[in-house]
Amino acid sequence: MVLTGAGGVLGWGLARRWPGSGLAPPVLLGRRAPAFWGPVRHEAMELGLGPRDRGSCADWARRLRPALWIHAASLSRWEACERDPLRAFTWNVEALRGLLEVARETGTRVLLVSTDQVFDGRGREYLEGADPCPVHVYGATKARAEDLALAAGQAVVRLPLLLGPSVAPGRRGADAAVVEAVRSGRRPRLFVDEWRTPLGVLRAAEGLLGWLADPQPGVFHLAGAEALSRLELGEKVCRRLGLRASFEALRRADAGMEQRPARLILRGPRAVRLLRWKPPDLRQSLAHWESRSHD
Ligand SMILES: NC(=O)c1ccc[n+]([C@@H]2O[C@H](COP(=O)([O-])OP(=O)(O)OC[C@H]3O[C@@H](n4cnc5c(N)ncnc54)[C@H](OP(=O)(O)O)[C@@H]3O)[C@@H](O)[C@H]2O)c1
Repeated sequence: MVLTGAGGVLGWGLARRWPGSGLAPPVLLGRRAPAFWGPVRHEAMELGLGPRDRGSCADWARRLRPALWIHAASLSRWEACERDPLRAFTWNVEALRGLLEVARETGTRVLLVSTDQVFDGRGREYLEGADPCPVHVYGATKARAEDLALAAGQAVVRLPLLLGPSVAPGRRGADAAVVEAVRSGRRPRLFVDEWRTPLGVLRAAEGLLGWLADPQPGVFHLAGAEALSRLELGEKVCRRLGLRASFEALRRADAGMEQRPARLILRGPRAVRLLRWKPPDLRQSLAHWESRSHD
């Protein structure tokens, strides 16, 4: 079993939930070994290398011939993708293409971790069968990667805005960003016209582990049960943690960000049916703030 992209906030959730899953530890592939995984095998891999170069996903798939592969590594910063579309395409699409070619030979089942950002945000809600309609480079690269994975008979899991702790510099959940700002005396500016179905990383990890226990092809949506604006999310998180907070409510257009998808409400009836996924409410998605989660 191989996992790429283990060093982000999702990787932190997987590191917490893996030991209780009964699965053998994964081999982590990435640029650096994330300390929060403890002593598991880590090998150097860099997205963007050609399929025949040492250290690419394709190269490692050929060497390890794993039965299962979760592909979460990605250039996932929205702004970075806008600045450098070629790099975004190379990292998010081409690296996967090489992996899928080898996976066909080795019989590896691949789960591509994707995002609600493949949608334009104009729909009322998005079920697993909805057609991607990206409005920015990040979403377009993920949508293209999804096409490749699905055409190869593999699986795609779309995740919404993730909630989780700060796990490394610049790597944190959307809730941790708000809490850090409030705790340092700032007044966060939060959108009133951008809605998401946020999901805690521990719950997201449980969904991915559910897929590993019974890997099936096709698209799955793992998302929280509650649709919240960014402002509502900030208010509820701070209330739950007993933090006194004041926010500046603004519209996306006020920040020159009206191109960002407004309403990304993911619903996952297929995940509920096939993975026995139960969309958690916000309280359940904030479980990582309980002290035991940080042991
Ligand atoms: N965070 C969210 O709110 C969110 C929402 C929806 C979907 N997702 C998806 O979930 C996945 C994980 O996101 P995340 O937020 O946990 O992680 P992240 O902070 O975006 O980090 C990305 C991960 O990918 C790896 N990576 C990036 N560029 C790489 C490269 N050139 N070569 C090798 N590895 C590279 C990083 O490795 P290093 O640690 O070695 O740098 C890191 O482990 C991504 O596919 C993302 O699109 C995230």
